[in-house]
Amino acid sequence: METTVKSIYTTTESHLEKELILYGWVRNNRAQKEFGFISFHDGTFFETIQVVYEESKADNFKDIQKIRVGSSILVKGQLKLTPDAKQPFEIKATHIELLGDSSEDYPIQPKRHSREFLREVAHLRARTNLFQAVFRLRSIAAFAVHEFFQSQGFVYTHTPLITGNDGEGAGQMFSVTTLPLDNLPMTEDHKIDFKKDFFGKRTNLTVTGQLEAEAFAMAFKNVYTFGPTFRAENSNTQRHASEFWMIEPEMAFADLSKDMAVAEDMVKYIIKYVFEKAPEEMVFFDKFVEPGLTDRLLSVLTQPFANVTHKEAIDILLNSKEKFENKPQQGQDINTEHEKYLTEKHFKRPVFVIDWPKDIKAFYMRMNDDHETVAAMDLLVPGSGELIGGSQREERLDYLLKRMEEMNVPKEDMEWYIDLRRYGGCVHAGFGLGFERLVMYLTGVENIRDVIPFPRTPKNCEF
Ligand code: 4AD
Ligand code: MG
Repeated sequence: METTVKSIYTTTESHLEKELILYGWVRNNRAQKEFGFISFHDGTFFETIQVVYEESKADNFKDIQKIRVGSSILVKGQLKLTPDAKQPFEIKATHIELLGDSSEDYPIQPKRHSREFLREVAHLRARTNLFQAVFRLRSIAAFAVHEFFQSQGFVYTHTPLITGNDGEGAGQMFSVTTLPLDNLPMTEDHKIDFKKDFFGKRTNLTVTGQLEAEAFAMAFKNVYTFGPTFRAENSNTQRHASEFWMIEPEMAFADLSKDMAVAEDMVKYIIKYVFEKAPEEMVFFDKFVEPGLTDRLLSVLTQPFANVTHKEAIDILLNSKEKFENKPQQGQDINTEHEKYLTEKHFKRPVFVIDWPKDIKAFYMRMNDDHETVAAMDLLVPGSGELIGGSQREERLDYLLKRMEEMNVPKEDMEWYIDLRRYGGCVHAGFGLGFERLVMYLTGVENIRDVIPFPRTPKNCEF
């Protein structure tokens, strides 16, 4: 019967005494004189299975000996339990057929490769242990996100990827145009004539699905988006990608504390989920990527996240004995080294920083009564830093218009957004969780380039 490595590991008994057929790839082939071992992987399970072939049993022994690492093969044989060996069982092959040869220069040889090297062969790196674990975990975590929201009745909303607005007002957009770049149509006053462009106006890839999610929250109460976002942010760091996936719930009749409660529940739900659905991968991360990862993640489940105001956070930083490269300052942003200190040294767990100075946050965030801070929250976690950014939204029409004015947010394309405050608007809140940062947090992988199948970063758009 045709089977998979996963079925063998999960329902071993039912495979005994049967003629098995497996399709997969050769991780390693150690040929001896009269027998040999193939380390066989078929992509269905983290573990490999050992295939033993013997001159006396396999009908094409000489050919099998020559099969190279990376080749795709068909294996016929029987499963044998091996109670005295390192592995619980092996396959005794009666026949192995080469389906696709792999040439001598195959880059993924059975040895340790650096992550930098593997990024250069991103089309092949998913065949290694690390990337098998990372990308299966990524898939499982994505499903966990949907389960979390769907089980609570949130409506999954597909917000557009091409838009005419700058949802964050930070000017970090990639333009979308069909205008001929070497011969741009100009208006009389020497500006690019976007009326001649495909959409008849200036458009860009979205930086967030939030604004459209707000519109849907005013109709469905609770919604979420989960899709790609794009930022032309020239930051060459371990945590910034130009194309990344974001999960953005938006909830009507919810304030900032409800927002944080949902964020905390969600993160905890996903942690539990991955330990349940990907135990082999989680063991691997703990052993080979970040020793102590399991304890760190499981301890998160046992206590509430910490919570401080931005002002308190700066005070903690100022009162610490730490030598920061950038001196923390009231009213200013919290940068990477500060985030690290707060989550890894001071609180030693995830921490919400709330009530941010209005000048360093987006136009849509709700003004607090002090008129200095906004009802915003960032969730900082050890390792990944800022995992979530969210806020209660400004639902008051006059306040919103004033903020847009003050922050030079163009109103022309945003009338629809302002309408949401004119027609039955209400208190509402939401957040955005950077999916890659979550995968980094769950796996211990330090570089965002290693949790995206084909990463896009400044000056890099290969594959
Ligand atoms: O804090 P940000 O910019 O918030 C928003 O976009 C809001 N509209 C979200 C909302 O309230 N609906 O981004 C949210 C999260 C960050 O906390 C971070 O995890 C991730 O998105 N993120 C990035 N991840 C990878 N690469 C980048 N360049 C990122 N920029 C933000
Ligand atoms: Mg942010």
